[in-house]
Amino acid sequence: FALIFNSEYDPLIACIGFSVLAYVITAVLIPVLGPDFVRVGFVGRDLGKKHRPQIPESMGAVCAVVYLITLFFFIPFLFAKFFVTETSGSGNREHVLDTATLHKGRSLRMFPHSKLAEFLAALLSSFSMLVLGVADDLFDIRWRNKLLLPAIAVLPLILVYYVDFGVTLVAVPPVIWRLFNPGMVSNSAVPVVDLGVFYYIYMLAMAIFCPNSINILAGINGLEAGQSLIIAIFLLLNDAMYIIPGRILGLHPPHPATEAHLLSTYFVLPLIAVTAALLKYNWYPARVFVGDTYCYFAGMVFAQVGILGHFSKTLLLFLIPQIVNFIYSAPQLFKLVDCPRHRLPKLNTETGLLEPSRVYFDLPPKGAELLLLTSLGKLKLLDLERDPETHVIKSSSNFTIVNLVLTWAGPLREDRLAIVILGVQAGCCAVGLIARHTIAPAVFGR
Ligand code: UD1
Ligand code: MG
Repeated sequence: FALIFNSEYDPLIACIGFSVLAYVITAVLIPVLGPDFVRVGFVGRDLGKKHRPQIPESMGAVCAVVYLITLFFFIPFLFAKFFVTETSGSGNREHVLDTATLHKGRSLRMFPHSKLAEFLAALLSSFSMLVLGVADDLFDIRWRNKLLLPAIAVLPLILVYYVDFGVTLVAVPPVIWRLFNPGMVSNSAVPVVDLGVFYYIYMLAMAIFCPNSINILAGINGLEAGQSLIIAIFLLLNDAMYIIPGRILGLHPPHPATEAHLLSTYFVLPLIAVTAALLKYNWYPARVFVGDTYCYFAGMVFAQVGILGHFSKTLLLFLIPQIVNFIYSAPQLFKLVDCPRHRLPKLNTETGLLEPSRVYFDLPPKGAELLLLTSLGKLKLLDLERDPETHVIKSSSNFTIVNLVLTWAGPLREDRLAIVILGVQAGCCAVGLIARHTIAPAVFGR
């Protein structure tokens, strides 16, 4: 431990302490504030239960507020070493004060303003996401409009990124680099391409994707908070792989990405803490719902660590279930096939098990829609219901991986379904983490 934690001013120690506190505070506040949320109208019906009980909705707002306050208190600890005034210890008070002022002036002059700006911009982005998430929970904003909310929230972060880093280079495998630059030799050890303005578009796309993809892989108890917890834990494991070996082996200089991964740790640890507390109450049978507020907030924290840490490709490896669910959902999201307000699985009240929910076609599907339905049906990626006589498609299972698991595995109890999907999430993250540290260095030549 002494090797991992650097000195008395190591912010990592403060971060761990604050995260433990954040867990305790969130775990205490959620049940206390639940009735108040219901009183002001933040309430939802649990559609996966027989009597559809009403429980508090948007409790992710409590997490987000505790998270933000935790990080506000953490800022002085993050920069503690720059606030320290060193004294000469000569015993002469006047002399000590002068030296202290001098040293303070010197250490504050070295103060990393850009790092503070980056930290504050990230907090501002997650704060904006919290506000927009609450607005969505209040007004139930139309799907197409709310898709773009994260793009607004991430603007402060992108601006600071532009001013402070402006790095728009991405590493590419040497094979691909040589393909586009025949006969040339790369200047850097790792071949890179400059994406320019497209890098900013890519960051915007990440910020839109992360929150929304978590929000649509949802609808059963524990799923939104569970997937976020797993992703956050794997982000932390990935960070640890850069920080811990360097500290134990005392590498000088440490891995060049250490600072970026330390920053990521400071954002991810408190998220793990508040999410774990939320999951305690959101797990089957749920006593609270997380709300769009939570999905957006957690997704935005992921996007911001990916952007600031410059490891968005690794983040995408951890989001494979969300990417697959998004691609699979695309026909309904982009209205090629009708998209009901809710696509969450349907409870069979007789068996108590969940079955795939369905979209019903008033008119027989034609053209591209028919082609898509029949192709996916043949590949067993949809459960189609046909008229026994005319063979016209009457209904189909909804296009989410939650329904797909039920189509393949048969009806399941809600918690078992959540465990299966979260197991897939953990498996994908584990494969992603291993790939990042084995295949990727081989492919990218580092
Ligand atoms: C997204 C999905 C929608 C899904 C919904 C459920 C898309 C385009 N939208 O919509 O298909 O039905 O999430 O989260 O894919 N609920 C439960 N049990 C749960 C979680 C939620 O019954 O474990 C119900 C509750 O009635 C709750 C409501 O879903 O009030 C929350 O839905 P909301 O988050 O507002 O839906 P969207 O995010 O718009
Ligand atoms: Mg939602």
